[in-house]
Amino acid sequence: MDEHKKKKILCVGLVCLDIINVVDKYPEEDTDNRCLSQRWQRGGNASNSCTVLSLLGASSAFMGSLSAGPVADFILEDFQKLDIDVSLVSEHAQCVLPTSVVISNVSTGSRTILHMNRNLPDVTAEDFSKADLHQFKWIHWEGRNAEEQVKMIQQVAMYNSTLPPQQRITVSVEIEKTREPLYQLIPYGDVVFVSKDVARHFGFLTAEAALKGLYSRVKKGAVLVCAWAEKGADALGPDGLVVHSDAFPPETLVDTLGAGDTFNAAVIYTLSNGGSLENALTFGCRVAGRKCGFHGYDSISEQFTDD
Ligand code: ADP
Ligand code: FRU
Repeated sequence: MDEHKKKKILCVGLVCLDIINVVDKYPEEDTDNRCLSQRWQRGGNASNSCTVLSLLGASSAFMGSLSAGPVADFILEDFQKLDIDVSLVSEHAQCVLPTSVVISNVSTGSRTILHMNRNLPDVTAEDFSKADLHQFKWIHWEGRNAEEQVKMIQQVAMYNSTLPPQQRITVSVEIEKTREPLYQLIPYGDVVFVSKDVARHFGFLTAEAALKGLYSRVKKGAVLVCAWAEKGADALGPDGLVVHSDAFPPETLVDTLGAGDTFNAAVIYTLSNGGSLENALTFGCRVAGRKCGFHGYDSISEQFTDD
């Protein structure tokens, strides 16, 4: 394998604590219920994508903010268990780690998320400037503090401008939330993931319509990707042809928490290994679909590393 292919994939964004309550019936308001099980899990889109990349066998690194104390220790140990490089994590000892309380319904696979970030700031362009970019072949941004993230991507563009094309870092961005400031990231990705929510926010009723309608916003040569839950996912590249993959639903839908993060990771995994857009989309849907059939992410490695 050439030196560039061996480099790491860095994901920049959120890590949080997910407190997952597994139920077989969605609770009525103002009732007292027992769960089937309860667990802590490391969460956050960028953090989840690192998990999946690592389980698929890629070298990954996470950049984001963390608090201090027992919850932060749980998170750090979990990163380490999966060999995810955390040397770019910024510690904020006085802050509280963002936390999601998740109701995960095994009867439908639905996940209802109640998220709170009290005071943990996102990483800045200044934090990012300390990173040694030589170690990375791909950097993925979960759209959050977009203005700062644009400055980070501009640092990568400067770095790339000194290198021959085959040694450059590929940039991907995810626009998941329907927040206006996030849309400024769209022209900065070589690969841009927009969610169904964002597509709908722009008035599009299908992934294909969203891709065609939003493609003029991406930079020249970029690929736009839109996943649509049980309908699978579509992508559009510079050749103007929409590529589609159907979803791969599991036998029983159990847990859809992080399906999108799993899909993104599997697409990035394939593209960063030189795979085609078509293969990336199919692999993304296969891994994400399978993931919906079990709790958490661990079983991904059993099912996909020998593919
Ligand atoms: P999220 O809501 O976590 O962002 P998405 O709805 O964007 O996730 O779905 C991402 C991918 O996960 C889809 O393209 C699909 O391949 C898979 N997926 C999600 N939900 C289902 C489902 N109910 N059945 C099968 N596959 C699913
Ligand atoms: C799943 C997820 C969870 C987290 C929430 C934050 O995509 O990253 O792990 O609690 O979204 O919005």
